[in-house]
Order: sequence, then C-alpha cells, then structure tokens
Amino acid sequence: MGRFRSEKDSDYYKVLDDAINSYTWAAVVKLQERKVIDEVLGPIGQGKEAKIVLAKRHDGSYAVLKIFYPVPVRFTKSRYGYIFGDPRFRNLKISDQLHLVEIWCRKEYGNLSRAYEAGVQVPRPYGFYRNVMVMQFIGVGNMPAPRLEEVGLNNLDDPQAVFYEILKNLEKTYIAAGLVHGDLSPFNVLYDGEKPWIIDWGSAVRRGHPKEHEYLRRDVERILQFFKNPLDPHYLFKRLVERGSYRGPLDVDQEGWLLVGGKRLLDD
Ligand SMILES: Nc1ncnc2c1ncn2[C@@H]1O[C@H](COP(=O)(O)OP(=O)(O)O)[C@@H](O)[C@H]1O
Ligand SMILES: [Mg+2]
Repeated sequence: MGRFRSEKDSDYYKVLDDAINSYTWAAVVKLQERKVIDEVLGPIGQGKEAKIVLAKRHDGSYAVLKIFYPVPVRFTKSRYGYIFGDPRFRNLKISDQLHLVEIWCRKEYGNLSRAYEAGVQVPRPYGFYRNVMVMQFIGVGNMPAPRLEEVGLNNLDDPQAVFYEILKNLEKTYIAAGLVHGDLSPFNVLYDGEKPWIIDWGSAVRRGHPKEHEYLRRDVERILQFFKNPLDPHYLFKRLVERGSYRGPLDVDQEGWLLVGGKRLLDD
C-alpha cells in the first residue's frame, strides 16, 4: 500500500513538473511578446519558492524575472500554508494549484507596485504574467547586489547612514504605502554599495490586516537587531503606529525623512 502510494506520488510530481516548464515558458514568451523583456539571459538566484532569472530589456538595461514554482499541496509548507494548508483546498487539481501561484505572483507584484508608487526604495516593477514577475535588476554591471546579510554590518562604511535609509523606507512603507513588509530582514535588503533596496514583497499586508502590528513589530526588531541599534524596539514600533494614525498631508524633507505633523520619526 505504502509503495503503491509513493509511486503514484512520483508520477503526479512528474506530470506537474512538465506542466510547470511549459506553463512558465509560455508566460515568459508572453512577456517577450508584450515587450516587457527582450532576451532571457539565465538564472542568477534561487529562493525557496521562486527562481530569479536575469533578462535584458529593449533599451539594453537588465531586468530580473521572479518565477514562482507551482508546488503541489502536500509538499508545501511555509508561507503558502495559509492557502494550501487550508483543508478546503486539500483536493486541488493541478490547474488550481497553478492558479494559486498566479494569485501569489499578482499579490507580490501589487505590493511591490504600491511600495514603488509611495517612493519606497524598491526595484521598479515592469510587469507580470501568470507566475512570472519582472522588475528592475539591482546590481552593478551584470553582478547582482549582495544581500545586506552577506555584506555584514562590519563591512559597511557608514552603518548609521544605511540604518537611517532603511528606517526612512520602513516608515514610508507603513505610512505612505499603507503596507507592512512582513518579512523585512537583512536577507531581503540588497545593498549596491550606495543604497539599500527592499525586495521580496510577497508577505506584505495592507494596514488593517489582523497581523499588521505583529508584522510591524517583527520588522522593526529585525532591523534594530542587525544594526545592533540601542533604540527600544517597542518605542519605535509605538512611534510608527502613532504617526500612522495622523490624517494630515504628508511631506518629505531634503534628506528623505517623512514629515508627519512637521516632525521626523526620530525627533523628540
Ligand atoms: N531585483 C533584483 N535584483 C537583483 N537580485 C535580486 C532581485 N530580486 C531578487 N534578487 C536575488 O534573488 C534572491 C531571492 O529573491 P527574493 O525576492 O528574496 O525571493 P524569495 O521569496 O525566494 O526569498 C534575493 O535574495 C536576491 O539575491
Ligand atoms: Mg527573500
């Protein structure tokens, strides 16, 4: 019985794998037809749920494709859990699973676009189709920028300046974009030697989401932790929430800090 089942599982996987390849390929071709990208150059990174592929645009600039893998229900843990882990979805057909990956891709693309429009330092979104999204390549030449985690705190020339840049972006995300990133950590910040770029917006939630405060608190804590900053995380969290309830017009000063009622985040 056990043996029979595992054979069935591997057949199922194979069918799904073929489906992924042709399915993804068709999406990439569609993005080429729509002139979102020109040439596909090759993979540069691999995440748990996505593959990152370097591409060229028609103006000669680079872009990256983030290709989400469609993963069968029972092989999936982590962040798809809230859809895939739901018993109501236990008997999803392959076509439905592909559809869920499209929803995830659309969600991440939507969050990224919202952050971009609000002036957060993120890769510029170029377009998406099904399970493939296209965004600005962050790097120097064709070398992708390292993650802040790989750079390490001790190798930053001016850690304080990078910390402030991230705080400005964290606050803009919350107050100007009305989002909480939800997975902000040195693994999801790229550093090109000048500026930090915030990536990986799939877990972001709109303000008003039941996990808004939990995620915001965690994002704040992880950033303070990386920079070994003595600021009290609870103070910073509370300060952000207070400023978030302000209803007047927002302004940004010359240094890029959000002004809420004329004050910066770290002003008294
Ligand atoms: N716009 C980009 N420019 C350059 N490299 C990128 C870009 N987006 C992602 N990467 C690389 O791909 C890795 C995985 O991307 P990410 O969006 O964090 O996916 P995952 O959801 O799998 O964590 C990143 O850590 C980074 O190294
Ligand atoms: Mg990531």
